[in-house]
Amino acid sequence: MMPQEGIFHSPGAFSGVAVLRLTRNAALPQLREVVSSIHEELSTTQGLRLVLGLEPALLPEAPTSPVLLPREGPTARFPSSQAHVLVQVSANERELLLFALRRVLALSKGVLYLEEELLGGRIGEGREPFGFRDGLARPTRDQVRRTALVPSGPLAGASWLLYLRFQQNLDLFSRLKPQAQERVVGRTREGELVVDAPAEAHIHRARASGAGENQLLIRRGFPFRHAGEEGLAFLAAAADPDSYRRSLDALLGTDGQTPDALLRYATAVGGGLYLAPPRGWFHCSALQERRPSHEGIGTGL
Ligand code: HEM
Repeated sequence: MMPQEGIFHSPGAFSGVAVLRLTRNAALPQLREVVSSIHEELSTTQGLRLVLGLEPALLPEAPTSPVLLPREGPTARFPSSQAHVLVQVSANERELLLFALRRVLALSKGVLYLEEELLGGRIGEGREPFGFRDGLARPTRDQVRRTALVPSGPLAGASWLLYLRFQQNLDLFSRLKPQAQERVVGRTREGELVVDAPAEAHIHRARASGAGENQLLIRRGFPFRHAGEEGLAFLAAAADPDSYRRSLDALLGTDGQTPDALLRYATAVGGGLYLAPPRGWFHCSALQERRPSHEGIGTGL
């Protein structure tokens, strides 16, 4: 099993995500050729980190799993804006990031069109838009291998990706006193645990599902600012999509759990579940499996 190398690397100083949809007449072999070209070119570009995911239904090897999004709790909702392809690119230079995003569009012309693109990157030493330290427990390669990679079967080395685009209400959050803000997160701005944080604190809700310390999912999101909106492009990698169901339900407060206080200040406005195939999937049979181009897959397989 050869996972995509980008899975092992947390986003660099500059990050971007492109969400793409198939054009009406695109066929499966064309899609495979396009994503294989993107993978081949960008995964070998020095200094660039790439993770490429597809809508799970596009991979014949993928098991059918229960619908993850949309999901609803008593006070908040995680909507779905599921598309066909998700590309996450990261670099330590903005120039390289722009190059990568341009190449994604150029290589997918005629087969995929861009539905959403977010550019962002590290704030200070690694803070989310409310100013709190984020990404404290950087995952080791071993943790990524254990938590984020499908261990066996036809998809060995693949990774399930969750993407959620969060808008953060900086104005509303800033009206809270600093101490109240820290009780919402469950950590101080500098990342110390708040010992008497309430059960609704984000940290407690995230940990309630077993997701603490890179156990259930590997977070690989980044903060962005786009057209006056600030938020978190939440991205994660996991070996099993059920990890996301558990984590999201813990935050939403389903089945009588306490909803996450952070969701009063951060709203998910879109998202989807993708599957990042292992390296060997790209190209391997793109040509052998060529099918007649009238075989449209725009509505899924
Ligand atoms: C706008 C949305 C979000 C913001 C601003 C946010 C912010 C934070 C912050 C500041 C921390 C503490 C720093 C750290 O431990 O690295 C944290 C931890 C964490 N968050 Fe979030 N988060 C968001 C969404 C989510 C979502 C959707 C999930 C899960 C699906 C999640 C899961 C976690 C986990 C697992 C931890 C680490 C818990 C631990 O190991 O102690 N977060 N988040």
